[in-house]
Formats: sequence, C-alpha cells, structure tokens
Amino acid sequence: MARKQRREGPEQLSGSRAPLARWRFEDLPEAHFLDDVLAGLSRPQKAIAPKYFYDAKGSALFEAICRQPEYYPTRAELALTRAWIADIARFAGQGCELIEFGSGASIKSRLLIRRLRPAHYVAIDISQAALRLAVERLGREFPWLQITAVVGDFSRPIDLPRALGRRVAYFPGSTIGNLLPEEAEGFLHMTRGLVGRGGAMLVGVDLKKDANILHAAYNDAAGVTAAFNRNLLVRMNAELGANFDLRRFAHYAFYNVARGRVEMHLVSRLRQRVAIGRHRFAFDEGETIHTENSHKYAVEEFQAFARDAGFEARKQWLDRRGLFSLHGLRAA
Ligand code: AVJ
Repeated sequence: MARKQRREGPEQLSGSRAPLARWRFEDLPEAHFLDDVLAGLSRPQKAIAPKYFYDAKGSALFEAICRQPEYYPTRAELALTRAWIADIARFAGQGCELIEFGSGASIKSRLLIRRLRPAHYVAIDISQAALRLAVERLGREFPWLQITAVVGDFSRPIDLPRALGRRVAYFPGSTIGNLLPEEAEGFLHMTRGLVGRGGAMLVGVDLKKDANILHAAYNDAAGVTAAFNRNLLVRMNAELGANFDLRRFAHYAFYNVARGRVEMHLVSRLRQRVAIGRHRFAFDEGETIHTENSHKYAVEEFQAFARDAGFEARKQWLDRRGLFSLHGLRAA
C-alpha cells in the first residue's frame, strides 16, 4: 500500500506576479491513510493519528477553531510574537533559511518574515490545499522571498535542498504537543541534525494551566472543535469507503492531569459495527477512538527536553497571561 511518490519542480503561481515557488512532494501521507486506520482500529484502544485531521475541510475547521473565543493558544502566541518580535528577530538572525513545520495558514510566519528577511523560506505542511493558499499569499506579500513548499509529514525525516543560509527551524502553534514526550524529544533531535552547527529553533509550546481553561478550549460552545474531530469520520467515509454514522459518535475532550495532556476521542454512543471496505470493526457502547493528544509543558520541563536533544535553551517568551510560550533554542 505504501506508495512512494516524489515530485519536484518550479511552478507558476496562478494569477500572481510572485516569483516561482518550488514545490516538493515527500512521501505522501494519503498513501498510508487506509493502512494506518485499519491498524489503529485493530488496537485494544482504538486510535487514529491527528495528522489525518488535516484534509482541506479539516484544515479550514482548524482555522475556525483558532477564531473561537475559548481557544486561547493562537491569540496568545500571536500576541507574544508581536510583543517580542524585535527580540525574537535578534535571536533568529537576518538572512537565515527559515524552515517552518506544519505551516498551515502561515500567519505568525508573516511577522517573522517581515522582520527577518530570510534568504529562503521553506514551508512544510501535510495539507497541500492549506500550503497552496499560504504560499500564494506570501508570494504576493513578499515578492522578494524565495519559497519552497514541501507537502509532507514532518514526523518523518524530510529531504531538503542545500541550505541557503543559517538554518532556523520554526515550529509554532504547539503542534509539538501532538507528539508523545519521547517522540517530541526524537523530533527535536532530528531537527537539531537538520539545522546543523550554528542553527537554531523557535518552538511554540502550550503551557500547563488550570484544567477549566483547557476544557473550555477543546470544548468550544459553537461546537467547532467537535466538528473538527468528527470530520475524521466524514473523511474516512469519503476516502476509505467507510460507513460511520455520524449521529452515533460524540466528541469528547478532557484534560488528563496525570499525563499533562488534553485528549480528544470519538465516543461510540451505542454498541455497533462499522465497515471500512471489507473490514468490520465492533464498538461497545462508550468505546472510543483516541484521535489526539495535546501535551502541555512547564517552561523548565520543555527546556530539559530541548537540552537532551542537543539544544541550548537560550530564550523563552511568554504572553502577558502566561498561557503560552515560544522557545529560542540554539544548536549546542
Ligand atoms: C494544532 C495540535 C496545536 O492541540 O491545540 C485544536 C489542534 N485540536 N483543537 C492543539 C487542536 C483541537 C491543536 N494543535
């Protein structure tokens, strides 16, 4: 099933006078969707990786989550980036090669690009649709900017063109929270190798806080997070020929204090069977598919990881309310 696909090449952006953006297609995640779902639903605790949320609809729903009043991380990170931009830019340095993981709509990156004037901006995202929009917009706003768009899954090592400047990896949004702590450390280690000597990393990390704030953020009143979670079922029906009945699954998100993470699940409202092609899966009433972990860290806790992965934790910037952190790491 795992079909390897790798294409590459310059491409004229439709309807803009932007310079050519190079596109690169890593091992495409769609190729693994069916295999991963079948394996994940065969486990005692059924689970599907959160990267599969982000089809075009899922990426749009995530952007909508970011606008919900209860979902503080996006606003907090944007506010702290604005407030500390001069210091952040000084840390990252001008004329670097800025590599963004999970770039999505690239809103925060625009602030950085304006200040840093990077020699090269590399945007890596799993959603080609989201990446295309972001790259077109950046091309219009910064006509001088050389851009490479990489469609791929950043949890696997990525094959990048030769560096066009000191490498600075940018991983905002607390996407690192999706990884288990040991995976997060592995990811930091891989990135340390990618940026090389003299390289740096900027990582957004959501902080540990009152469980009620977290609960509200992942259970917004408008039900956008619920729609985002349930869209995974819609996607499996459309792409894998599954027959999930949406009325029979509920969104469930809670803060697991012991593990320091918000967990999202899809709960079966009753005993039922679901078909995916010729495969059948049984659900008990109340049984769940675990769809996401969102780990929260204390500043020192995250810095210890970064050190174990070969970085020096040089800087941390917080928003005024102390909800969110951005870390400036230097390759040790
Ligand atoms: C994009 C992974 C940072 O964990 O808060 C938002 C995704 N899930 N609401 C997060 C998400 C539910 C988000 N990250």
